[in-house]
Amino acid sequence: MEQSNNLSRRDAVKVAGAATAAIAGAPAILKAAPGDKLRYGVIGTGSRGDYLLKHLHSIDNGQCTALCDVSQEHLDRSAKTIGTNPAKFKDYRELLSKNDIDAVIIAVPLFLHFPVTKDALLAGKHVFCEKSLVFKATEMAELRTLVEARPKQVLQVGLQRRYSEFYQAVKNMVDKGILGNVTHMYSQWNRNPGWKMKPMPNLADQKMANWRLYREFSGGLAAELASHQVDVAEWMFGAPPESIVGVGGHDYQFDGRDIMDNIQMIYKYPKKQKLISMYISTSSHLPLFNATRTEFGELIMGTEGAVQITVGDDTHPVLATWYREPSPPPTVTKAGEKKAYVAGATMVAAGAAKGVPILLDRDKVGPNEAFVDKEMKFARQWLYSKGVMMPEEPRNPVDIELESFFKDCKTLSKPKANLEVGLADSATVILTNLALDEDRKVMWSEIDQLQKGGAAAAPKAKKA
Ligand SMILES: NC(=O)c1ccc[n+]([C@@H]2O[C@H](COP(=O)([O-])OP(=O)(O)OC[C@H]3O[C@@H](n4cnc5c(N)ncnc54)[C@H](O)[C@@H]3O)[C@@H](O)[C@H]2O)c1
Repeated sequence: MEQSNNLSRRDAVKVAGAATAAIAGAPAILKAAPGDKLRYGVIGTGSRGDYLLKHLHSIDNGQCTALCDVSQEHLDRSAKTIGTNPAKFKDYRELLSKNDIDAVIIAVPLFLHFPVTKDALLAGKHVFCEKSLVFKATEMAELRTLVEARPKQVLQVGLQRRYSEFYQAVKNMVDKGILGNVTHMYSQWNRNPGWKMKPMPNLADQKMANWRLYREFSGGLAAELASHQVDVAEWMFGAPPESIVGVGGHDYQFDGRDIMDNIQMIYKYPKKQKLISMYISTSSHLPLFNATRTEFGELIMGTEGAVQITVGDDTHPVLATWYREPSPPPTVTKAGEKKAYVAGATMVAAGAAKGVPILLDRDKVGPNEAFVDKEMKFARQWLYSKGVMMPEEPRNPVDIELESFFKDCKTLSKPKANLEVGLADSATVILTNLALDEDRKVMWSEIDQLQKGGAAAAPKAKKA
């Protein structure tokens, strides 16, 4: 995409703010009356289910009425976490049969996502299912049919980056051409050592407690970690990948697991863009953000600028920094004209050396603001420009995704992370594992055959 290159550094800050202007601001914190609360149950109260319940505790437009887990310990712990005296079930079908539950939040292991989601939809519930939405390609068409036949039920996937104001601002910058022609993305989620095997008295229990480490239940690093970042690429590039190549191995962690412990991929998208990504278990170093963060982040690269972004966690907020390209080549318009780069050298050098913070609504100066408010915002912007502080999202994207789910269930609106987003994400994960397993270039079109039950519909077990 094209844009004017004639920007001063000060303009650049303004544009970053303007990039967010078209984005609907963060949903206001809903102060719901008791009758307006959506009644929900959580199925799977393990690590993620309990984490979501910690966030759900302060979300006002939902009321937790039930929990389900096969583990009594997890059930009891999570009942304390939410503190609403929910009914407790060991069989999720019993929970689904209750009429005082409008929606379910599903946080069971990946291989159970589809059967539980299917039963929940058939029971008339709205569904929030954690990523990656489905495990096998053969589940995709059936899920689409089930959801499309139920326009009064909402399905949302737990891809929380879609609910971050910073990620939305960056998507807006990409679409407006502020980064020029966006040609590449880099992503990583590297850990050291990453997942550890929890020993159990027998193999069956060990497999269940460590389901992520076994291919019969899990899509490994691709499903658990890459799924978030391939979704960001699909969102930014506006399409799923055309082809995938990768190299992976089970090279370092020999504790009984059969998933790969390091995977590296290159995804090619229809407009020739590429995503280069890595997921390793031997270093947590993150070269982005001057190595002030570890493990995960994304870099979105265009001919006129790049953005580093990470969703962070509960203690490290979302971070996004924009770097203007020091000397971008002249862009060629569709008509074949060359647009020269005209910015001054001093600004260019400064732009290259230091990132420009991306402004969210709360930091933008509006025309009708009181003098004191304006001065506060200018002061904040000055502190940002000096690197003393960084803009922060007022709310965690996980809070926003959950609140937004309840709101969409009430209004029957389409979630940002909807069925198609989730299915495209799952298809990319499944094809990634195929590329890694078979050590070959896999085409997106292969998903059609796999959906019909083609040879590699389910991830294969990998020999250590
Ligand atoms: N969106 C994110 O950032 C994010 C982060 C972490 C995990 N997740 C996803 O959340 C899901 C759960 O992951 P986790 O880390 O909590 O795993 P976990 O093993 O800690 O928890 C899974 C829970 O499901 C329970 N369970 C298993 N079978 C069940 C059944 N038939 N009925 C009811 N409960 C059952 C287990 O007892 C366990 O408590 C996975 O799909 C994972 O990818 C998403």
